[in-house]
Amino acid sequence: MSVELATRLLSADRTAIAAAARVLGDGGLVAFPTETVYGLGADATRGSAVARLYAAKGRPRFNPLIAHVADAKAALALARFSEEAKLLAGVFWPGPLTLVLPKAEGCPVAELATAGIDSIAVRVPDHPVACDLLKAFGRPVVAPSANQSGHVSPTTAQHVRADLEGRIDLIIDGGATSVGVESTIVSCLGAPTLLRPGGLPRDAIERVLGHPLIIADAAPEHAPLAPGMLASHYAPKTPLRLNAGDVKAGEALLAFGSDAPKAAHVLNLSPSGDLVEAAANLFSHLRALDAAGARAIAVMPIPNSDLGEAINDRLARAAAPRP
Ligand code: TXA
Ligand code: MG
Repeated sequence: MSVELATRLLSADRTAIAAAARVLGDGGLVAFPTETVYGLGADATRGSAVARLYAAKGRPRFNPLIAHVADAKAALALARFSEEAKLLAGVFWPGPLTLVLPKAEGCPVAELATAGIDSIAVRVPDHPVACDLLKAFGRPVVAPSANQSGHVSPTTAQHVRADLEGRIDLIIDGGATSVGVESTIVSCLGAPTLLRPGGLPRDAIERVLGHPLIIADAAPEHAPLAPGMLASHYAPKTPLRLNAGDVKAGEALLAFGSDAPKAAHVLNLSPSGDLVEAAANLFSHLRALDAAGARAIAVMPIPNSDLGEAINDRLARAAAPRP
């Protein structure tokens, strides 16, 4: 079943927040900015709203969602925190860190939202619009990135519109997101394990813990825990050629740093070689180059330090063979 909706677009102000809280209360879908990427929100406690969300995204149902709450206190109603989880939440929330934890007794989040598993991913976003909306609504909001499943994540309201116009009720426009890549996901079900590199660098987490994180990619038995890390999750239509030192005929170029080769279509993630700036530009530059009609997108090497780890992770997924 597919139903065409009129999608409203409102700039972020008090009227928009109130309207969005009403839409969520009616079981509707609202796209809103967070500091990482735009999220597509639904009432986490209502299975039907969550089902509509999966449908709008075209996302496979076995892929669990992140529950967003206004503060750490609200998170306590959803999940059980180990000592190390409390430490990380205390230091990094609000912010681009998602914790995977055992579900709390009586957790009100719909089973469908967690894809039936007994852990839950929780995050307190650091963005005034997201915070105001979560406070106004008063219940947890599940919010995957507000793109169609398999497309790149949206960092502006226009990106959301391009993907989801007619499929969701409301988009709140709060401008471009500042971080530009999704949250870092750490599982605290056992020893803290990095499930997805993201906007919070791994080093920062390890410094607070005082020991290294286990890396899920290096431990294949953990891989099914993060089904969203499917190889082709972040895929533009145009093939990507990574670590390119030159540009071949018919290719567009995703550049990084000051000595980029010349090409007909070039976008530079950061001419000054700043990884934070590069992360913020990543998805919008990929989208723009994807629309250029090139044979392939050549991508210059990106250092693998700090946010470079998340950027390279996204690029590797975008370049992975399609199923
Ligand atoms: O920055 C973000 O995290 C954004 C903004 C909107 O908050 N959200 C986001 O959600 O990236 P999404 O649905 O695109 O990615 C959620 C990831 C998926 O890879 C999913 O498999 C994983 O979180 N996940 C959710 N619940 C999980 C769980 N219980 N165990 C392991 N992984 C889980
Ligand atoms: Mg996503």
